[in-house]
Amino acid sequence: MSKFFVTTPIYYVNDAPHIGHAYTTILADVLSRYHRTAGDEVFFLTGLDEHGQKVKQAAEKRGMTPQAHSDDLAPRFINLWKTLDIQYDDFIRTTQERHKKIVQLVLQQVNERGDIYTDEYEGWYSVAEERFITDAEYGSGQFRDVKKIKEKNYFFKMSKYQQKLIDYIQAHPDFIRPEHRKNEMLGFLRQPLGDLCISRPKARMDWGIEIPFDRDYVTYVWFDALVNYISVPGYGSDEKKFKKWWPADVHLIGKDILTTHCVYWTTMLFSLGLELPNTIFAHGWWLIGETKMSKSLGNVVNPLDLIETYGVDAVRFYLMREMVLGLDANFTPDSFVKCYNSDLANDYGNLLNRVSGLIHKNHDGMVPEPGPLAPVEEIIKTQADELPRRVKDLINGFKVQEAVSLIMVFVQTLNKYMESQAPWKLAKTDMKAANRVLYTAAEGLRIATIMLAPVMPEKTAEVLDILGAKDAPPVWGKLMPGLVLRPHSPLFPRIEVEKT
Ligand code: ME8
Ligand code: MG
Repeated sequence: MSKFFVTTPIYYVNDAPHIGHAYTTILADVLSRYHRTAGDEVFFLTGLDEHGQKVKQAAEKRGMTPQAHSDDLAPRFINLWKTLDIQYDDFIRTTQERHKKIVQLVLQQVNERGDIYTDEYEGWYSVAEERFITDAEYGSGQFRDVKKIKEKNYFFKMSKYQQKLIDYIQAHPDFIRPEHRKNEMLGFLRQPLGDLCISRPKARMDWGIEIPFDRDYVTYVWFDALVNYISVPGYGSDEKKFKKWWPADVHLIGKDILTTHCVYWTTMLFSLGLELPNTIFAHGWWLIGETKMSKSLGNVVNPLDLIETYGVDAVRFYLMREMVLGLDANFTPDSFVKCYNSDLANDYGNLLNRVSGLIHKNHDGMVPEPGPLAPVEEIIKTQADELPRRVKDLINGFKVQEAVSLIMVFVQTLNKYMESQAPWKLAKTDMKAANRVLYTAAEGLRIATIMLAPVMPEKTAEVLDILGAKDAPPVWGKLMPGLVLRPHSPLFPRIEVEKT
């Protein structure tokens, strides 16, 4: 047994969550569930990033204080995760005292280490954008409300750790994944790395955690948010807990926040003398057409609408099935319906209907005795027995799409087997053979169902209940002959699309 500590980004509370946020969170949940099933002790951490400019602006737009705004939005995330059956172990909000205090401790420690200095910075500041712009940007004339600001700020000596980081990445091939993201980071690190401005004067932006050694400043939102990965598992507060969980096994992120994780966070950890996470895994984006689905572009798909129409498990399944981890994927209502109809309605749902339909017809619902297996069944049994190990290997390699697809290939094999053996015909001539086929298909379905459980916790629980095999392991022969299958309605009724 080993431990598995997985994190998602903590999302900004500037708007309600969309499919992109749901994706990373479901992914973390699916990995967690596979690891729990394998007997690992899991710690799954998610939460919200409530400080900084973006949140402050969002609150101002609504005429609310940032805290009231965050308190209002937080339940939308929490409720969505509940609806999506997300089993996280802790949920951090960066405005919580337990987090703020550790961010201040980290600032102190990094400062004591000699890694923080002040500097006077002079540059063009766009009030409209609330950020410093470059000379080139200033020259473009596209920015409004620009003024020259001369400001004292605190800087983190990130540059000091540049070579150490390059060496670390090269020595740890699994640290940044997938491979092309690792190369992207190494490319980025070929340029001299500057230091990181980690403060904002309160006079300009006060929604953040106070810098403990200068109360006129708050800390930059990333220096605050990233610390959640250690503040929650007990850094500076619970040594035993921290020792147990840190380093994280994987930080799951989208590729939009690769640099902040691979460079800002890792150099912060170097400064603190802490180990780095085993893996930072950056997945691609859900696109609408050619563009990223994003709050600021307003092209978002609301997960709640999809859940209402198709159910939670179909949404979870589609997201895991459709995106190859590491690449972008296109979200379209068409591909959703196609995936649902072919995998869930035609393949998985239909297999259950056929098997249970025939068992009800031939045996009043009683699972038949298989008798000795013929070679064709031996092949299926072998495939079924190998499935858990093969799925586990894929999951350990973050190949979730491939794992789901492997299970679905097995489901398709079972359907083909049913067609070629035609137990409905056999039942008229050779009841023993018909029984063997029905048992084999039902047992294969049961094992496939267990393997799909982390992806579709609700529907698979229903199927295992129908099969009367809720707690049996994915080992051939655990489906009990003589047991009566519970009657049921179709699992995934086909979606009829109107032709336009
Ligand atoms: O960046 N496709 O928060 P955020 C796939 N607070 N994933 C997407 C996505 C899309 N179109 N859109 C968003 C922040 N995501 C910081 C993080 S962590 C210490 C601080 C997911 O609300 C993806 O995981 O902008 C992405 O990295 C994250 O949401 C960004 O969420
Ligand atoms: Mg973002």
